Amino acid sequence: MTTTSTSTRLGIRKLTARIGAEVTGVSPSLELDPATVTAIRTALNEHKALVFRGISVDDDGQQRFARYFGPLTSAHPTVPAAKGEPNVLPVDSENGRSNHWHTDVTFVLNPPQASTLRGIVIPPYGGETLIANTGAAYQDLPAPLRAFADTLWAVHTNDYDYAVPPENLDENGRARRAVFLSTRYETVHPVVRIHPLTGELGLFIGDFAQRIAGLSKGESKDILRLLQAYVTRPENILRVAWEPGQLVLFDNRITQHYAIDNYDDQPRRLNRVTVAGGIPVGANGQQSYSVKGDASHYTPAVQGDRVNSPAYAGT
Ligand code: SIN
Repeated sequence: MTTTSTSTRLGIRKLTARIGAEVTGVSPSLELDPATVTAIRTALNEHKALVFRGISVDDDGQQRFARYFGPLTSAHPTVPAAKGEPNVLPVDSENGRSNHWHTDVTFVLNPPQASTLRGIVIPPYGGETLIANTGAAYQDLPAPLRAFADTLWAVHTNDYDYAVPPENLDENGRARRAVFLSTRYETVHPVVRIHPLTGELGLFIGDFAQRIAGLSKGESKDILRLLQAYVTRPENILRVAWEPGQLVLFDNRITQHYAIDNYDDQPRRLNRVTVAGGIPVGANGQQSYSVKGDASHYTPAVQGDRVNSPAYAGT
């Protein structure tokens, strides 16, 4: 593996109007100088998801790259890390499929601010990852719905409504779910989150959001379904087709993602490394709060998002 640092000409090529850009001009080792890191952070703020192709990094290189953006979380609050790599989560089709819309680990108080995914085993067809811009979704809401959403808070939990009901799980599936649920987490987050770096407002829901605080499950489902329909509008989605030597960095504060289960029984594996985030701040300036579950082994205790927006100065 070459280890030359990048100070070459960075290129940012938009992939869709609303989300996603390909980054060119970085070295295959993804070793970056500070100016390049700043430029990539700026591009991430704008495009929400960045695709790097033709790169050549191992787990160490992926972690070094993710660390440019902040301290890492460990692999997951409950799911074991890759062997010998406490900060690397194997996302392996053998262990299930993430074919549901979610933002990573929103059931803890301070979910990751960014996620990196690196293709390891790519199926010969299918297996794409969809990434949705939840800021664009918020902007798409009609004004009365936007004002309503601004007032809502949602309870996020890892004990969520799984796509596969328990009776359809085999023994391995049951064991994996028991591990996922070995500690129950519940956190109340604003439905509309303000992005700490850009001041942009985005819907902060996804499948771990199970209930709107103060409403019944039935009422909550209808409201969440209505809001989520704006997140999953095709215009708001980037479809990442995996290829060898590819890494994707996305902003976990203002996106949701979905791993398409369209590759039959072919093996598929990505490695995920996530960057620790702050405590979300809602449209009214208030912070999320934890109801259940200690995630201190998973993510460094960081303060609330320091919101970089004149409208929220002082929060
Ligand atoms: C994830 O949910 O982090 C994994 C996404 C994928 O498998 O494409």
